[in-house]
Amino acid sequence: MLEIRDVTRRFGKTVAVDAVSLDIAQGQMVGIIGRSGAGKSTLLRMINRLIAPSDGSIRFHGVEVSRLNGTALRRWQRDCAMIFQQFNLVPRLDVLTNVLLGRLNHRNTLLNLMTMFTREERLEAIAALERLNIAQTALQRAGTLSGGQQQRVAIARALMQGPKVILADEPIASLDPLNAKVVMDSLADINRREGLTVITNLHTLDTARQYCTRIVGMAAGRVVFDGAPEALTAETVRSIYGAEGDGFSDTITSTAIAAPQPARAPSSGRREPALAGG
Ligand SMILES: Nc1ncnc2c1ncn2[C@@H]1O[C@H](COP(=O)(O)OP(=O)(O)O)[C@@H](O)[C@H]1O
Ligand SMILES: [Mg+2]
Repeated sequence: MLEIRDVTRRFGKTVAVDAVSLDIAQGQMVGIIGRSGAGKSTLLRMINRLIAPSDGSIRFHGVEVSRLNGTALRRWQRDCAMIFQQFNLVPRLDVLTNVLLGRLNHRNTLLNLMTMFTREERLEAIAALERLNIAQTALQRAGTLSGGQQQRVAIARALMQGPKVILADEPIASLDPLNAKVVMDSLADINRREGLTVITNLHTLDTARQYCTRIVGMAAGRVVFDGAPEALTAETVRSIYGAEGDGFSDTITSTAIAAPQPARAPSSGRREPALAGG
């Protein structure tokens, strides 16, 4: 269980995240949606302690994450792997080495300096690539792969960390619809089969609806919606995306996964009219 209590983060006079409280049970797949600047990235970055909260408490299984340092902080950052919009691979290294880098903070510094990975670690990295259907790229330079393949390498690297939680910050915002679908399917599959908690920022409402069992809507640093996709009404969508909600259909659906979508989400009346044109 991840317990976020009254977490606030200020940057000078800007309140990026404003007294956010959320309880996230192990194994949930949570989509955080909201306009640019709503505080989504700041919230994720506080959870894995890339930045510290100004106020409030973040606990994982009862341990106060916001006060960890040294080894305990590194262990937490291993437990909650982060996936970024821009993949953050080392482009000049081959794919296999990029995946093995996910293992670095499991090991001691001397071993890291020698950059030797065991046969077992290599096999594990290949298995992670196979899991993401990209084992055939193992020896290519990461920079030569398509965006969709690079994001799958990043997910394989995250799996090499042996995490309990995966945090993904707009993982499909730079991808075309087909690759976006492959990446979201992979995250959903890992969530279901491994029981990993997945918390992902998404700026496309359709994707959040399709993949997440819980949606958190943020606006101006605050949580303005927290519930099942079915509970999102036209009114709550407007509270998340602003009063001009109707005008946002392009932004909201720009990287949405292309129709037609399978029977999972019956279309009868579920879609807001504001979004139907996207
Ligand atoms: N490092 C930073 N320094 C100053 N302001 C920041 C920083 N990071 C984020 N902000 C501000 O905090 C607010 C929330 O940003 P962010 O969390 O990136 O939103 P989102 O991910 O929803 O687009 C914005 O007003 C942004 O300009
Ligand atoms: Mg962001």
